[in-house]
Amino acid sequence: MSNEVAALSIQGLTAGYGGPPIIVQVTLTARRGAITAIVGPNGAGKSTLLKAVAGLIRPTAGRVFVEGKEVTNQPVETLVRRGIAYVPQVENIFPDLTIRDSGLSPRFQGLIWERIEQIRSTNVAVLIVEQNTRETLRHAQWAYVLVLGQNRLEGSGQDLLENDEVVDLYVGRLS
Ligand SMILES: Nc1ncnc2c1ncn2[C@@H]1O[C@H](COP(=O)(O)OP(=O)(O)OP(=O)(O)O)[C@@H](O)[C@H]1O
Ligand SMILES: [Mg+2]
Repeated sequence: MSNEVAALSIQGLTAGYGGPPIIVQVTLTARRGAITAIVGPNGAGKSTLLKAVAGLIRPTAGRVFVEGKEVTNQPVETLVRRGIAYVPQVENIFPDLTIRDSGLSPRFQGLIWERIEQIRSTNVAVLIVEQNTRETLRHAQWAYVLVLGQNRLEGSGQDLLENDEVVDLYVGRLS
């Protein structure tokens, strides 16, 4: 429902690491009961966006709202109390585990998606940043394509899966 307060609303967020901004005027909404995805090539600024939301880096412009309340520029400890925390992506995790042990196997990915769908069905807002674009878009009610730190495209996961640019650049065609 469009008049429902979004779980997370990011409006025109600009942030970086002191040099030129890495993300520029990014806008995004995540609703309860929906899987919202952020996809885009390596270096697009996906993790940087999350760091700016979680207060690890300070936005130079734009605003962040959680459940309708503004949290822009709040210190990390305040954000954590509001349930916003950042778990860093470190070298793509668990280098010592085999594929079987870590669940990077396709079967385990299926179980993870089942679990995410269960969580979504309890009216939680799920915002997901994932490398497997095709699978992510299959599950996402709404997805944002971030390129060079900016909003490039958005739409239902299904629509983006049928979008030529998305397919050519990020998904690949099934042969
Ligand atoms: N701590 C940092 N200091 C300076 N620049 C950084 C830092 N972390 C990331 N960057 C730069 O910000 C840009 C965006 O990186 P970011 O990690 O946000 O991309 P990403 O979309 O998450 O990529 P990936 O798909 O590889 O996870 C890159 O050019 C990267 O080099
Ligand atoms: Mg990243």
